[in-house]
Amino acid sequence: MSEIIIGGGKRLSGDLNVQGAKNSVLPVLAATVLCGKECVIHNCPALSDVETSIKILRALGCFAQRQGDAVTVNSEGISGCEIPDSLMREMRSSVVFLGAIIGRCKKAVISSPGGCELGPRPIDLHLSSLEKMGVTVTEEHGFLYCTAEKGLHGAEINLVFPSVGATENIILAAATAKGITVIHGAAKEPEISDLADFLNSAGAKIYGCGSDTVKIYGVEKLGGAEHTIIPDRIAAATYMACAAVTGGTLTLNGVMPSHMVSLFWLFKECGCGVELSGKSVRITAPERLSGVPTVRSLVYPGFPTDAGPIAVAMLSLAKGTSVFVENIFENRFRYVDELKRFGAKIKTEGKAAVIEGVSELSGADCKATDLRGGAALIIAALAAGGESKIGEIHHIERGYDDIAAALKPLGADIKYSKE
Ligand code: UD1
Repeated sequence: MSEIIIGGGKRLSGDLNVQGAKNSVLPVLAATVLCGKECVIHNCPALSDVETSIKILRALGCFAQRQGDAVTVNSEGISGCEIPDSLMREMRSSVVFLGAIIGRCKKAVISSPGGCELGPRPIDLHLSSLEKMGVTVTEEHGFLYCTAEKGLHGAEINLVFPSVGATENIILAAATAKGITVIHGAAKEPEISDLADFLNSAGAKIYGCGSDTVKIYGVEKLGGAEHTIIPDRIAAATYMACAAVTGGTLTLNGVMPSHMVSLFWLFKECGCGVELSGKSVRITAPERLSGVPTVRSLVYPGFPTDAGPIAVAMLSLAKGTSVFVENIFENRFRYVDELKRFGAKIKTEGKAAVIEGVSELSGADCKATDLRGGAALIIAALAAGGESKIGEIHHIERGYDDIAAALKPLGADIKYSKE
């Protein structure tokens, strides 16, 4: 198993192009199942989760191939409606294929995605919404059998929580359902608007994404489309934090500033300079970061839960005491014990992490517990004095397109142990 080895304490500076958004590319690749013609998706980051999506598409009988940053999919010859259990286990978010497969094939079989790294992640909202659209769901021996023998029909759906995945699955299922579907209480994340933009360019009629009411007029069928994935706001924030903790200056190109308002807020509160110029942002670290009394994760446009670990790593080095409150997932502090190995002073209780900022961290041997928790360890290791080794980096590879290759040109001393 490969590790990342970091010699900390190097000030980062330079320019970086931001990768395409993981949380956008996965549902868009799933959506190609509905299209039945050739689709070309540009700006696809090289992530293990994207490779898993490609494997799922092939397992369903679709043509799927990467060339550079573009993935071409043609689902014309789709021959299956079942996601193999091994692929389901590799990537919990493969559940977003459900709406697309049922929309195209009128049946789908997936293994039920159990609890995972962030605590229980139920899909009750996905399933009850699909049931309203004419889907029958049966659970047997850990598998979910979904059928819509009479086809899918539009429905009025009230989401009690604005779940990102449920909103995406409903949009996918509704795109070619008979009639109109209205989602009240929809999630507003930019990645959902990106999915709708892709589907609309393939002929769908989806309106209102980015607001809490989304209206989908079902069309008979979709066609091919070409689409470019939006920039990854969480990866952008990760690299900003790498600069912030090393006293550096970094210009990120290809960002969508309007998607990052709550993230920029945090960096400014910590005393960083944040200058915007079109699709670029330049971050300048202060001499010492300042603590922030309270940061709370919330649904978009609030502070993203995925940036929580990144914030906690950064606040570990900030002057004073900060509190981070995790409101979306139940068990998202597993990385905190690993951060403590660097000398971070953090106490967790329920939803809250209380961070007493220290003036320096020291290198440590640690293991990524999950994707964003792994990113937090990289941030700590870059700031820490001495050498750090980070294991279980397959978690990090799920969401960052070669993070070592991105950081090295900025002055980081970072390599893979297999190098
Ligand atoms: C997506 C993102 C993930 C991000 C999260 C919140 C992808 C691949 N993943 O995950 O990176 O952290 O949004 O922004 O895009 N819930 C239920 N029942 C359901 C569905 C969700 O109770 O049927 C609960 C979950 O347990 C959790 C909360 O709702 O507490 C948020 O989940 P959701 O918005 O659905 O997140 P994901 O789509 O899983």
